[in-house]
Amino acid sequence: MEYRNIIFQAEKGIATITFNRPEVLNALNEACLEEFVHAIDVIDGNEDIRVLILTGAGEKSFVAGADIKEFLKFNVLKAKTFSEKGHHIVQKLQELPIPVIAAVNGFALGGGCEVILACDFVYASENAMFGLPEINLGIIPGFGGTQRLPRLIGKNRAKEMIFTGKMIPAAEAHGIGLVNKVCPQEQLMDEVLKVAGIIVSKGKVSLRAAKQAINTGMDVDLETGCRIESDSFAICLTSPDAMEGTKAFLEKREARFKGTLTE
Ligand code: COA
Repeated sequence: MEYRNIIFQAEKGIATITFNRPEVLNALNEACLEEFVHAIDVIDGNEDIRVLILTGAGEKSFVAGADIKEFLKFNVLKAKTFSEKGHHIVQKLQELPIPVIAAVNGFALGGGCEVILACDFVYASENAMFGLPEINLGIIPGFGGTQRLPRLIGKNRAKEMIFTGKMIPAAEAHGIGLVNKVCPQEQLMDEVLKVAGIIVSKGKVSLRAAKQAINTGMDVDLETGCRIESDSFAICLTSPDAMEGTKAFLEKREARFKGTLTE
């Protein structure tokens, strides 16, 4: 597929998807969503990609939401299909077996904020702004915002953001656990690449197991979550990466993880 609304790059195990419609603050139109899900599928099928970074083109915006201009031509059925398609894409993103980091370089509003809620963690530039402003348009979030935001920052904080539609700056988003780290804009990608580089050096099998155990465990009771952890722990411990990791420690050298389940 030829990408016109995103930029897709991959280098040294790190893929980057850049939402690329800066003239509309990288708003997600249907074409952009098609390209985004296509790129996610490509990444899912590529064993060599070990981390995904999402960011936005320009210095003003990550993604300022779904493309509002497209809403005018929607009827009720089309609106439902659009929301379901958004859910499907965001769920796929969440279920990617590799770590996904959002590098939020400006506005992360509406669908943009919902995309970052499905990422594993978020770094943001000092000028970044976060919000679910759909209420200002007379609608509600449609790509999972009413579900993932309360799970991440708590029910009452999420209700305040969704009921008021207000935007919060990066520092406040950091304070409530929506953002892991805030950096000056010119340092954002360096900081994200630095943490991605650390993650890339780890074992792919254990990264995948850790991500699945955390994500699945968050939606079940503690006992079930701990059982999921035990199963994943056992699979990891007998993998070639675990042999290499423990041998490297005992031989006082850096581990060279292959990330495969079999030798
Ligand atoms: N969909 C479509 N176009 C959008 C958009 C969106 N979600 N967000 C911004 N744009 C467009 C604007 O219409 C404008 O286009 P124009 O130059 O043709 O008029 C361009 O992007 C720049 O936006 P502008 O509003 O002029 O920038 P600003 O700095 O004054 O304001 C925002 C920035 C993000 C506060 C404002 O654009 C905004 O509120 N956007 C909508 C956010 C939203 O409600 N998202 C949820 C959608 S469900």
